[in-house]
Amino acid sequence: MDKRFGAGVPTKVIGNDVEVPLVGFGTFKIWPYEAQQAVEDALALGYRHIDTAQAYLNEAQVGAALAATSKADETFVTTKLRNGDHGYEATLRSFEESCRALGLDVIDLFLIHWPTPTLDNYVDTWRAFVHLREQGYVRAIGVSNFLIEHLDRIAAETGVVPDVNQIESHPRFWQPELEAYCKEHGIAVEAYSPLGHGSDISSAPVEAAATVHGVSAAQVVLRWHMQKGHVVLPKSTHPERMRQNMDLDGFELSDSEMAAIDSLDDPTATVSLDPHTFCASQTLEDMVARGSVKLEP
Ligand code: A2P
Repeated sequence: MDKRFGAGVPTKVIGNDVEVPLVGFGTFKIWPYEAQQAVEDALALGYRHIDTAQAYLNEAQVGAALAATSKADETFVTTKLRNGDHGYEATLRSFEESCRALGLDVIDLFLIHWPTPTLDNYVDTWRAFVHLREQGYVRAIGVSNFLIEHLDRIAAETGVVPDVNQIESHPRFWQPELEAYCKEHGIAVEAYSPLGHGSDISSAPVEAAATVHGVSAAQVVLRWHMQKGHVVLPKSTHPERMRQNMDLDGFELSDSEMAAIDSLDDPTATVSLDPHTFCASQTLEDMVARGSVKLEP
């Protein structure tokens, strides 16, 4: 057990013996003006895994929260490379900027945020990730939103399989084939939007299990993820929900409860973007222009 997270923080081993706390605090759409406070609240509640990205525009605020709470040494930090910085040299430069913004010399987990296959340079990008791990600047490397064809290609062309694939996964859209592929190749699955943006908690098998076990429907969904071996990144701005989303150990779903929740899968029920086509560059200017970023309350 990795002592830096303290007792009682469940973890999963990824890559070269790196421990990642099973429940992470996701910071997508936590805007710059509110991010430092939100991350400080999460750390105070006991979260020891913070998931950010260059494209979330809150790395500096995550870094400020880690510094203000003196929790940097006890916290697993993930960030992701923005689409516009793909390519070998651009990746190395961009990684340095993330380190500066986060105030860290070493990052626990660095991910390629999207494959952007229409730009066709994720393989070179991946080579830079391998270099960063070899040099000790990152403990683990991975990808996000990669489909089987993208995973196959980086493995075939570089010989290095990612430690992690962070993908959209929730009961109504859990990508069983991609999940099976990851399991077969030793790639840990991290579930983003684990509650389907909150909508998957109101479904009959989830509500039935919540009644049986005396827990909330959100806890049932997160426990379902845990029993599948996923790392989960639930998002909430309410401290009580943040607390309950970490409290998943006191009950276990039966095989039939798991199967009933599995059966909710619907390949059309995505709440995210299509990895085949999404390649927007994610710079601040682009995101403000598209109205997808809020810089003020
Ligand atoms: P809120 O921020 O108001 O708590 P996802 O992580 O799948 O994107 O889901 C996030 C959504 O789920 C948010 O709208 C969040 O609302 C809601 N949510 C998070 N945790 C819980 C919970 N324990 N119970 C009910 N809703 C939750």
